[in-house]
Amino acid sequence: MLIIHGGTPLEGEVQVRGAKNLVSKAMVAALLGTSPSVLRSVPAIRDVEVVTGLLRVHGVDVELDGDTLYMDPTSVESAGVEEINVHAGTSRIPILLCGPLLHRLGRAFIPDLGGCNIGGRPIDFHLDALREFGAVVEKDAAGTHLSAPNGLHGIRYELEYPSVGATEQVLLTAVMAKGTTELRNAAIEPEIIDLICVLQKMGAIIKVHTNRVIEIVGVDELKGYRHRALPDRIEAASWASAALATEGSVFVRGALQADMMTFLNVFRSIGGAYEVDDDPVDGGIRFWHPGTPLKPVALETDVHPGLMTDWQQPIVVALTQADGLSIMHETVYENRFGYTSELRRMGANIELYSDCLGGTPCRWGRRNFLHSAVIAGPSKLHAADLQIPDLRAGFSHLIAAMAAEGTSRVYGVDRYITRGYENFEEKLLGLGAKIERPVTK
Ligand code: EPZ
Repeated sequence: MLIIHGGTPLEGEVQVRGAKNLVSKAMVAALLGTSPSVLRSVPAIRDVEVVTGLLRVHGVDVELDGDTLYMDPTSVESAGVEEINVHAGTSRIPILLCGPLLHRLGRAFIPDLGGCNIGGRPIDFHLDALREFGAVVEKDAAGTHLSAPNGLHGIRYELEYPSVGATEQVLLTAVMAKGTTELRNAAIEPEIIDLICVLQKMGAIIKVHTNRVIEIVGVDELKGYRHRALPDRIEAASWASAALATEGSVFVRGALQADMMTFLNVFRSIGGAYEVDDDPVDGGIRFWHPGTPLKPVALETDVHPGLMTDWQQPIVVALTQADGLSIMHETVYENRFGYTSELRRMGANIELYSDCLGGTPCRWGRRNFLHSAVIAGPSKLHAADLQIPDLRAGFSHLIAAMAAEGTSRVYGVDRYITRGYENFEEKLLGLGAKIERPVTK
């Protein structure tokens, strides 16, 4: 639990390191190499610890030195169901080990997946593609067992939806499958392009064509890589939104304009101000509230290059301070507005609808999911006791508590926030936030 005395503008500077959603996948890619890999700009977050544990049970020697991770996969070995099951429910990354383990060992076991509870989050695309590659998939009470009795071969495959994880699954499997793979309707998020860069350094042949088509020519062997992870654009946007909601000013060192273009457009449309410093070594983006009223907007989340679903929650908190009616249509996940009930208790005026409001009809419209939000602002937020439901919503609760008058208690920070935000308490204190941990007797 964190105690937050709100009402203080956040002022100062924070550093963002490598993106959680690239680092964890690049760690899995290291399994495919015949020699060690080195990954730099690795954030100290729990998801990295979880993947470290998963690699270690499979015989990978993993060492962290500062923010550099050394991974030696030369002695990869099968792990027992019990050892792997220690990691059940902790993350969604285990599903991405399937291809690399099938290539290295001929079999894989995947425990029940964890990750944020923001929708059904099925893995049907993953398993379907793996079967096409030639994997045999068997489920039992313990988890999912996979084998590849005849090896894995290239496929022509079209994703029903440009899923980030399923695209990564195909990439990590196709790079060493026999023959060529053509993936259509692929996700092309910057983290995926960075994963492609990692795989290319390892010796893979991957062509990104127009119209979401990715072609992968399978190779017989991949070696280790040296790579600096791209910066975390979700964390950067979280600090930007915190600056706006608290009427402060934050320089986010490491934030990259090119990966955040859509967010920057939204930030400016709302009335926020920013300035890009593109120095390659210590540049970043300064975000601030210019002192004039924030403006309402109609937005919808989408796959890249659209507005990221993980930017939605911090933006909604900022929109509670905009002068008028805003709309947020969530099209990626069916259940990503649960956190707004806590914001309502703080005085925010937010209503949820099952219709596709303000934009194009999406997959959830006819299925009665509350996936559109109307935010009427500005609302004076007041302190409350808050229960964090998931990682990104959790950070938006922290922002709301910092913007509110009075003292809030936020529960669940260690369980959720530490999964994806490095040293967030130190960073908050450095920005002048008035936070404290309860004194334990
Ligand atoms: C990744 O999740 C990220 N997680 C998520 O970030 C992010 O919100 C999401 O991509 C979208 O950008 C990681 O990278 C670890 P998807 P992922 O497959 O890969 C449906 C965070 O807080 N779908 O692109 O699991 C799915 O239900 C997290 O950092 C299927 O139907 O997301 C969803 O509606 C939260 N079947 C949509 O696709 C499948 O087999 C997009 O999911 C797979 C996905």
